[in-house]
Amino acid sequence: MMAIFQIGLRRAGVHLPRASATFAPCLRRQVHPAAPSRVLQQLARTARFARRSYATDTTSGKVASAAAEASSGSSAKSSSFPETNSRIVGYWLVGSAASVFGIVVFGGLTRLTESGLSITEWRPVTGSLPPMSDADWQSEFDKYRASPEYKLINPHMDLAEFKKIYFMEWFHRVWGRVIGLTFVVPTVYFIARRRVTARMAVNLCGISALIGFQGFIGWWMVKSGLKDDLFAPGSHPRVSQYRLTAHLAAAVVCYGWMLLSGLNVLRTHQFLRWPEDARKTFHQLSDPALKTLRRSVTGLTLLIFTTLLSGALVAGLDAGLIYNEFPKMGVGYAPPKSELFDPFYSRREDRSDLWWRNMLENPSLVQLDHRILAVTTFTTVLALFAYARTGRVKAAIPRDVAKATTGLLHLALIQVTLGITTLIYLVPIPLAAAHQAGALALLTGALVAGHRLRLPGARTQALVERAYQRNVSVIRANMEACSQRALRNVAKKSA
Ligand code: HEM
Repeated sequence: MMAIFQIGLRRAGVHLPRASATFAPCLRRQVHPAAPSRVLQQLARTARFARRSYATDTTSGKVASAAAEASSGSSAKSSSFPETNSRIVGYWLVGSAASVFGIVVFGGLTRLTESGLSITEWRPVTGSLPPMSDADWQSEFDKYRASPEYKLINPHMDLAEFKKIYFMEWFHRVWGRVIGLTFVVPTVYFIARRRVTARMAVNLCGISALIGFQGFIGWWMVKSGLKDDLFAPGSHPRVSQYRLTAHLAAAVVCYGWMLLSGLNVLRTHQFLRWPEDARKTFHQLSDPALKTLRRSVTGLTLLIFTTLLSGALVAGLDAGLIYNEFPKMGVGYAPPKSELFDPFYSRREDRSDLWWRNMLENPSLVQLDHRILAVTTFTTVLALFAYARTGRVKAAIPRDVAKATTGLLHLALIQVTLGITTLIYLVPIPLAAAHQAGALALLTGALVAGHRLRLPGARTQALVERAYQRNVSVIRANMEACSQRALRNVAKKSA
């Protein structure tokens, strides 16, 4: 019985959060007088080992100084911000990221249904409500009828059809406002009530500014589709592909920023809850065998981001409506060079802008670029998956990182399949929207893998160490109380 009790204590020991480390069952039990001292010895050994291994784990000295600072509470005195973020902040950030994911996909649908140019004005406050009366609807419709898109593409559209595309764009804008409000208001609250660290306060202000800027980019993009020069013969009334790409890029940066900040908060809480497991994780993540893997995941994240931006150029130029086959593009694997680097797109007399203008404005080359980047991304994911399962990396890789690389492989497979089918079937709306969502999901996979591979900073490690030492001393104190009680019981019995 005692053996089971001892094992239980050792296993539960440092796992227990402070509040729960009361050992009531122990106090209730009748135990052999010699047993508690053995448990105590074991515990003391564990604590000595913990201190020793911590000293060797953190040779840089950064953690040691952060630990000293954390335990003296000097940082808490110099700033009124707490040392850790409230857990609710983590959930709220991840929830906000999910909302941004949703609006990105909805934004894609707005573009694919050609609804984006239906509201011809930008009224950040008064535009929150749709037209309320028939006269208001007629007035909105009249404004749209003066736009290049109506005159050149939709001259037969009636009011009922207009209402449909209007509501798509209106909902997209309202969703943007909701994201802004549900982010900025809690940001002010969390900072005012000191529920976040000073560093997180800076992050939250940065994200809030980016959300505001995103609204501006959105309008700047729509404006490019309403310009009068789009009435010129040969021009196609659609927004600038550069501005569409900037709008998507800002949304994706905002999403990634929210997601990583939220995951960091939740991970720190997890570490503080289970400090012994956290110390093992830190030890694993400090393995030099993971260095190249960590760099590769960062590189892959940037590559996915670049592929995603090149996809936005494809979408912005409607370049998915040509060369609807894969892997070939016409008779070969690439169109002829004269078509890829067409002087038509160059605006300088010396043709010095020929290559980059074609890369960003010529639909044939833009599609080829996207294919090349997509295939490179897919190959890199495959290589990463294989690398994570070979030699020293296989032995060192934490389980959750290995799982993330498997997830990445699946997401890349789905994304490439969606891309190819979108192309072959001439960009049907459901497939194209799923392809856009898939791009964000793939990026999420890479962000999560990178997040799991990241060794937390010295300050977090110090906090974890403090929590660990605190748990050890609480358990030791409880054990001592327990053994005293047992000794007293034995003394009482023998008397
Ligand atoms: C790693 C893989 C890929 C990523 C991250 C990716 C990403 C993207 C993104 C973000 C868009 C913009 C969607 C929008 O704004 O609506 C896009 C569009 C597009 N992609 Fe991909 N893509 C990948 C693979 C592929 C592949 C393999 C193909 C086919 C060869 C492909 C074909 C297309 C087409 C045709 C569009 C235009 C769809 C439209 O007009 O809405 N993609 N891609």
